[in-house]
Amino acid sequence: MVAFISLLLGLAGFGSWGSQAVEAAQLTKVTYPNNATSKPEMYIYVPDKVVAKPPLVVVIHSCQSSASSYFQNSKIPWKKGSDNKGYITLWPSSPHSGTCWDVSSKRSLSHNGGGDPQAISNMILYAIDKYGADRDRVYVTGGSSGGMMSNVLAATYPELIKAVSLYSGVPAGCFVSSSGGVAQWNNTCSGGQSRASAEAWGNVVRNMYPGYSGPRPKMQIWHGSADSTLAPQNYQETIKQWTNVFGVGQTPTSSVKNFPERNYQTDNYGDMVQGIYATGVGHSVPSNLTASEIWFGL
Ligand SMILES: *[C@@H]1O[C@H](CO)[C@@H](O)[C@H](O)[C@H]1NC(C)=O
Ligand SMILES: *[C@@H]1O[C@H](CO)[C@@H](O)[C@H](O)[C@H]1NC(C)=O
Ligand SMILES: *[C@@H]1O[C@H](CO)[C@@H](O)[C@H](O)[C@H]1NC(C)=O
Repeated sequence: MVAFISLLLGLAGFGSWGSQAVEAAQLTKVTYPNNATSKPEMYIYVPDKVVAKPPLVVVIHSCQSSASSYFQNSKIPWKKGSDNKGYITLWPSSPHSGTCWDVSSKRSLSHNGGGDPQAISNMILYAIDKYGADRDRVYVTGGSSGGMMSNVLAATYPELIKAVSLYSGVPAGCFVSSSGGVAQWNNTCSGGQSRASAEAWGNVVRNMYPGYSGPRPKMQIWHGSADSTLAPQNYQETIKQWTNVFGVGQTPTSSVKNFPERNYQTDNYGDMVQGIYATGVGHSVPSNLTASEIWFGL
């Protein structure tokens, strides 16, 4: 009886000063063991109703953004997904001026090369260790510079990632800097002039982690046809790259028009590569939480 009354009082409390008590979870900065040269910050969001052995989604921001502003951006609805489904989200924050990710230097474009991807891999390992995230259900998403980094992470740390859903990026290794510069812009790539055979693009990925022969994340690649920041040709080049890595052809095995939205087309290349081309959409294609979660199996 006493327990029953206190339950009622508890419910009354819930009703009156509800949301703060219930939704206490916040984006939190975390100090993590990081043996990379690069020192991006780590932020984590553990929802109040976290599931046991939670999946982990790494959400990578664009240029001129940060973990906290990306977290608050309503077009990047991963907090909502985390609240609804109980998975953890990890938000790396770029250390570079202008906050683009370094996808141009050798240290980033190689497994354990010391760059941003190595630091992010350290964050993933720490999230598994400290928060009990499921190491078999680690996913990566990002837009623009974050989309580029998603491709680079897939190439450099394939053993850690199950699936990637990236928006409006460029192929892994496309933004390379010939002088080795860190976080450099590359006009040839952004303008869509970096074109190569599927084999050559596949080699770029394989050479970032020589000798690796384990599983690789399945790749979902979104791009808009009206992208004037990262030319739409980058979509074709990225599809070439990953179809080659997975040893499948560049003719879709199935296509769905007007899916997942009107004027978008979904092309499947076997089970591991999916392209979604958004006709009339510019930079950057807005995240579709539902479609990315489905790709991740969440
Ligand atoms: C950095 O730490 C990771 C995770 O513990 C380890 O696998 C890797 O070998 C280390 N890399 C270097 C360059 O020390
Ligand atoms: C830009 O990237 C391409 C590969 O996509 C590379 O060949 C070229 O050297 C890079 N440009 C500069 C200025 O580093
Ligand atoms: C996102 O994709 C789902 C299918 O996965 C679709 O039903 C939904 O309409 C899309 N969302 C938006 C905002 O278009």
